[in-house]
Amino acid sequence: MFYVFSNPQAIAEHVSELLIAQIQKKNDSVLGLATGSTMEPVYEKLCEQVARLNVDVSGLTTFNLDEYIGLGSDHPQSYRYYMRQHLFNRLAFAQHRTFLPDGLCADPVKQCEQYSGQIQQAGHIDVQLLGIGNNGHIGFNEPGTSFGSRTHVVPLTEQTRIDNSRFFDSLDEVPTKAITLGLQDIMESKQIILIATGTNKAQIMAELYESPVTEQLPASVVKSHPNAMILLDEQAAQFLPAEWRDTLES
Ligand code: GLP
Repeated sequence: MFYVFSNPQAIAEHVSELLIAQIQKKNDSVLGLATGSTMEPVYEKLCEQVARLNVDVSGLTTFNLDEYIGLGSDHPQSYRYYMRQHLFNRLAFAQHRTFLPDGLCADPVKQCEQYSGQIQQAGHIDVQLLGIGNNGHIGFNEPGTSFGSRTHVVPLTEQTRIDNSRFFDSLDEVPTKAITLGLQDIMESKQIILIATGTNKAQIMAELYESPVTEQLPASVVKSHPNAMILLDEQAAQFLPAEWRDTLES
């Protein structure tokens, strides 16, 4: 389940190949997408390979994991903006089937219910990409979130706001709430690929490796999924016991 690669580029290449194989097998696949700096090389590589191999992405439906409450789609730190910049505007996606929660929605609670419902109507997510927060969050499911959770509104922890403040001019500008897919929605995906890169993820990855499946470490739920992979680069894997490393890379 834990696979170590030499660097983020090697992970990006592998994940991009997996996604392309999925799209070629099922051109109306439903992809679960994530944001964050970890995903940038993955989307870069995917754009490159899709163009090179002339892969048709127009039949795909996508659901993003999360969005900040209070940021509109034109705000450079909104996740809709990120997705347009890194993926949606670069390939021929059917834009009306690229779903993200709306950070400016008047009734976020109702929107959450609809979002989980839309995923179920789409037949569930075929491949879900996940990053991980330094406190083990996935999406914005912070420690203590129920494994039975559906899409919901969350207050962001101080730690998460500080971690994400590097993208904003100041900590005060980081939103205090977000909408996130719930852990049960995530776990209903047919396949999960969790990616962690860089030294700042080394501590949480060692904890994840050792941890039982517990709501105190939200990402640990992925370890109980029947079809999940956890991909790390050497830096993120530096505190994992060497004898357990399983290398996919040739
Ligand atoms: C945010 C997102 C997560 C993401 C995490 C890590 O909090 N909500 O989905 O996994 O950050 O981001 P990064 O990849 O930038 O480290």
